[in-house]
Amino acid sequence: MIGARRSLLCARGIFAGVSARTQVPRLFKNSSKLNIRVSAYSTKTVPLTADTYSDKVKRDDRFKQLEDSDIEFFHSVLQDPHGVITGEEDIEFYNEDWMRKYKGQSKLVLRPKTTEQISQIVKYCNEQKLAVVPQGGNTGLVGGSIPVFDEIIISLAGMNKIRSFDSVSGILKCDAGLILENADNALSEEGYIFPLDLGAKGSCHVGGNVATNAGGLRLLKYGSLHGSVLGLEAVLPDGTIYNSMNSLRKDNTGYDLKQLFIGSEGTLGLITGVSILCPSRPQVVNIAFLAVSSYEAVQKVFVGARRELSEILSAFEFMDDKSQLLTARHLNADHPIESGEYPFYVLIETSGSNKEHDDEKLEGFLERAMEDGLVDDGIIAQDETQLQSLWSWRESIPEASTIGGGVYKYDVSLPLSDLYGLVDAASAKLKEANLVGIDDDSKPVVEAIGYGHIGDGNLHLNVAVREYSKEIESVLEPFVYEWIQSKNGSISAEHGLGFQKKNYIGYSKNDIEIRLMKDLKKHYDPNGIMNPYKYI
Ligand code: FAD
Ligand code: MLT
Ligand code: ZN
Repeated sequence: MIGARRSLLCARGIFAGVSARTQVPRLFKNSSKLNIRVSAYSTKTVPLTADTYSDKVKRDDRFKQLEDSDIEFFHSVLQDPHGVITGEEDIEFYNEDWMRKYKGQSKLVLRPKTTEQISQIVKYCNEQKLAVVPQGGNTGLVGGSIPVFDEIIISLAGMNKIRSFDSVSGILKCDAGLILENADNALSEEGYIFPLDLGAKGSCHVGGNVATNAGGLRLLKYGSLHGSVLGLEAVLPDGTIYNSMNSLRKDNTGYDLKQLFIGSEGTLGLITGVSILCPSRPQVVNIAFLAVSSYEAVQKVFVGARRELSEILSAFEFMDDKSQLLTARHLNADHPIESGEYPFYVLIETSGSNKEHDDEKLEGFLERAMEDGLVDDGIIAQDETQLQSLWSWRESIPEASTIGGGVYKYDVSLPLSDLYGLVDAASAKLKEANLVGIDDDSKPVVEAIGYGHIGDGNLHLNVAVREYSKEIESVLEPFVYEWIQSKNGSISAEHGLGFQKKNYIGYSKNDIEIRLMKDLKKHYDPNGIMNPYKYI
């Protein structure tokens, strides 16, 4: 079988199987469909976070309750009836998270249009001791973007303009509320690319990306936002406007203050503007989707890909068979290779500028990987439709994980050799607790799946469930965090800590690190109004 396929490699038909089967419509890329949430599958009402986690969190009585006079003040600042949202139904979207796991009780959403308005609002809230939650596209996966009690939601959705783009330097300056996909589409017209891409691009904001220090699918090539963000504009809890949008590539004059806001998850201030260095858009992109028979082989394929594809390797993603079976159910489509037939799948993307060179490199690499017995089967996309379709088998996993009703998500950094061990350990733990089983339709009731950004040492462990329950959660937590700590990993590689991991930061940071963080928080936000009840 492998031999027959190998012979096809040189002809760039590559692995038999590039067929109509791969022509599944892409879900998220270049679309805004992400607003279709888990609610499409589950009509159950989301319980209030304050009730579900009453043992973990109590309302802080230092915070004032909202009064009519406050709402009047906000109207006077915003001068826009659509900028002040108080209707219960209209607020629902802002009060519930994407996973439908967390629900807040905010009575007020503000949608300012300028940094100056945000400054006035925040200054007032600080003086009045009104707690606030900054919110971007609300696609966060740790409950950080929604209130826990009655905090006021400040949505950045109204601040969505590109401020400038310099086509010589590649520097984009934009409002924080610009949707990532819109930023990338605009850059595309100039021959540039946004240095971050992720499945939620149709909904998440550039400011939200910076606030979470999102990693995404191409960190391997373009690096972290800590490197590509050149400057920020942010409103501090007392209303001060911090501005470092001048965007120099090199500036060694003292502390690099913008770094404090990158990954701060809305706890230090509201990011209102972002200046970011964007690379040239690659002219040639190739995708290979491979079947691999062991996790050891996945690692070896990665080492080989990094060595042989070097500068053109732009993504190396892996998926286990369980994630692909779920995705096939979710997409209602046949897997491009055959989900369930192989234990692991790998998606390799190359990005470059010379088609002949890149094609040759990828084909040569795959040929050797097959000869070495590392790759059992695979597909190379032959056109843009196939390319988009193959990506959808990776990018749809987050949504597919929720189709049963809910999902417990863990996004972790681990040494590569230990990475998949966490999925096995979680599965064994759930089995030991008698939580796994098959329903009448032969579908698992509780199932641990694994996928992620191998190139970054980042695993996503998802435990797909029928409904959220204390019983399942207590089996998984703190077990998962303890396991990660025992391997010197991090309990958050990219999604952050938010509400979900508020009590678990100690598994990845030592006492001194936590003390320094608390000192900073106290210094900039002495009244604690900025995204309270979360990790700090
Ligand atoms: P929100 O969810 O609104 O907010 C997230 C946090 O940032 C909150 O704590 C909020 O208070 C704070 N915040 C938001 N905007 C601001 C602001 N302007 N100023 C200050 N604080 C702010 N994440 C990854 O890292 N990699 C992925 O590959 C990835 N893929 C995803 C795929 C799907 C399908 C989904 C649903 C999510 C994915 N995520 C991923 C998680 C999420 O999309 C990212 O965390 C994203 O960066 C959040 O942006 P947002 O605008 O939706 O922020
Ligand atoms: C991903 O890599 O798909 C994202 O981080 C989202 C997720 O894990 O659900
Ligand atoms: Zn991810």
